[in-house]
Amino acid sequence: MSLNCKDLLGLEHLDKKDLQTVLDSVKPFKSLFTMSVKKAPTLIGKTVANLFYEPSTRTRTSFEIAAKRLSADVVNMSIDTSSVAKGESLIDTGKTLEAMKVDYIIIRHSLSGAPDILARNLNASIINAGDGFHEHPTQGLLDLYTIYEKKKKIEGLKVLLVGDILHSRVAKSNIWALTKMGAEVTVAGPPTLIPTNIEDLGVKVYYNLDEAVKKVDVINILRIQLERQKENLFPSVHEYIEFYQLTKERLAIAKPDVLIMHPGPMNRGVEISSYVADSSNSVINEQVTNGVAVRMAVLYLLSPKRKKNASSD
Ligand code: CP
Repeated sequence: MSLNCKDLLGLEHLDKKDLQTVLDSVKPFKSLFTMSVKKAPTLIGKTVANLFYEPSTRTRTSFEIAAKRLSADVVNMSIDTSSVAKGESLIDTGKTLEAMKVDYIIIRHSLSGAPDILARNLNASIINAGDGFHEHPTQGLLDLYTIYEKKKKIEGLKVLLVGDILHSRVAKSNIWALTKMGAEVTVAGPPTLIPTNIEDLGVKVYYNLDEAVKKVDVINILRIQLERQKENLFPSVHEYIEFYQLTKERLAIAKPDVLIMHPGPMNRGVEISSYVADSSNSVINEQVTNGVAVRMAVLYLLSPKRKKNASSD
C-alpha cells in the first residue's frame, strides 16, 4: 500500500480511497505500542527533519516518536538558533537540509502554502504539520482514525466542529476528510468565527450550540486562537464561555455515547470545561496516542514515492 504522492500537503487533494488506505494502515503500527520493543525497521537509513516555525507540543513530538519507532534518524531544527534567524529563506533552508540527504521534512509555518513551496522545490517528501489557516492534514487524519476506531465507521456519522472555524487549519482538514468519507459535518460558533462560504464545503452551520449538540455522534471542540485574531471577533471571553463553551449541562443534552474530541492545546474553562475534558466521553488523550500511529502510517505510505526531478519555480 502507498499514497500516490511524494508529499502530504493537505487532505483536500486526497480521495476517499487514499483516506481509507491511511485508515487501514494505522492498526499494525499502533499494535507496536504494547510491545516491549516499540520499533519497526521500516525507515532504517532514512532521515527526518522537523522544521517548526511555530510552537508545537503534540505534532512535533509525535512526528519525532513516530520516525524513531520506524528506525529513522531524526533532526529537530531549532529555528531560533538556526540561520533562519540571520535571514535565510525557506527554500534555502530546505535545500540545505536536502544537501545533507534528509528524506522527509516536516514543516509547520504561519504562512499558508509554505509546505507547498518546499514541495515544489525539493526532492524530499514534505509533510505539512500545519500552515496558517490552511490545513493540518495529519491532525485531520488522526481525528478521522480516532472516530473510525471508536465508532467502527465514518459514513453516515454526524460530526460537529465547534468554535473558531475561521482560523482553524484543523477544521479545514477535518471537513475535507469527513465529508469525503460520507460523514454529515456541522459547524457551530459565533458568526464572526465562521467563514462566510463554509457551506460550499458541504457543511451545515449552527449558531446555537444547544441546538447543535443534540443528535450528533462526535463533538470536536476547537481552540480559540487569540494569537491569530487581528481584531476582537467576539465581545468578550466571558460571553464566548456563556454561548459556546462545551459544559457539563451541554454534554447532558447530547447523545450518551457522543465522542468528545479536542486537537489540543486546550484552553480549559474557555472552549471546554474541565468536567467535559476529563469525562468518560472524552477521547482527547487517545487522539494523542493515535497521532503517533497515524504519523508512522503517513511516513510509511509516502516512503516509496519519490519525485525524480523537483521543479525550480
Ligand atoms: N494539535 C496540535 O497541532 O497541537 P500542537 O500545536 O501541540 O502540535
